[in-house]
Amino acid sequence: MSHFLELRDIKKSFGEVQSLRGVTMTVDRGEVIGLLGDNGAGKSTLIKIITGYYHPDEGEILFNGQRVEHLTVPRARQLGVETVYQERALADQQSLWRNIFIGRELTTRFGLMDIPRMRAETQRLMQEHMGFTSTAVTPDSPVLTFSGGEKQGVAIVRALYFQAELIILDEPTMGLALSETGKLLEFVEQVRTAGKSVIFIDHNIFHVYEVADRIVLLDRGRVAGEFRTSDLTLNELLDKMRRVAKTGSLD
Ligand SMILES: Nc1ncnc2c1ncn2[C@@H]1O[C@H](COP(=O)(O)OP(=O)(O)O)[C@@H](O)[C@H]1O
Ligand SMILES: [Mg+2]
Repeated sequence: MSHFLELRDIKKSFGEVQSLRGVTMTVDRGEVIGLLGDNGAGKSTLIKIITGYYHPDEGEILFNGQRVEHLTVPRARQLGVETVYQERALADQQSLWRNIFIGRELTTRFGLMDIPRMRAETQRLMQEHMGFTSTAVTPDSPVLTFSGGEKQGVAIVRALYFQAELIILDEPTMGLALSETGKLLEFVEQVRTAGKSVIFIDHNIFHVYEVADRIVLLDRGRVAGEFRTSDLTLNELLDKMRRVAKTGSLD
């Protein structure tokens, strides 16, 4: 079967700066990819190409084995790519159910907002997927009081509910407390269990190693290495990263 996503020799420059110098990588269904690399390695540029925000200068993008000539943001979304940004995961002043359905409201057959159904669906998602056990949280609770990890969890559950195929998390654990990080990693686990894919970008190698099936190590716009986490220990990974940082390659 074809990969969910395949990038072939992607190049992207901004003026004199070559952000990506020929990146080839794949993402399969049910796979969590950890994307590692120093500041300026090209991680965010790569993500923006996958989400259709930037167009590569060269290279090919394939979804389900089909080449997409001109990937735009709406097209990427249609193909199931969702990005969860920590800082704007949710609208604080709004209720939980509004946050879930914002921009994709359920309607009655008369075209009116179906609030009872959105509340009921939110209640179900809370119980089955969000792990809100406290009775203090209801579909009408404003998300203001949720912790950072909970908010991102809600955003991940929302993405899954709306049939996301690939969820991208760019630095999701930044500023989270340890227990919150644990929760977030559990949400990532849920995505994998649902047979969907994740690209997980984080400065914290420990988190990436814990959650990823495969690690892609970027260095100055190139893939410097690719490893299955089952094939190497955390220490071996750290060692490889040090070598790449020092010499630019693993040779
Ligand atoms: N819009 C842009 N204009 C100019 N340079 C950019 C732009 N976006 C990224 N770059 C440059 O491309 C390189 C890779 O950046 P980025 O993809 O943000 O790396 P990372 O996310 O790994 O830190 C950096 O040198 C950065 O300065
Ligand atoms: Mg970045």
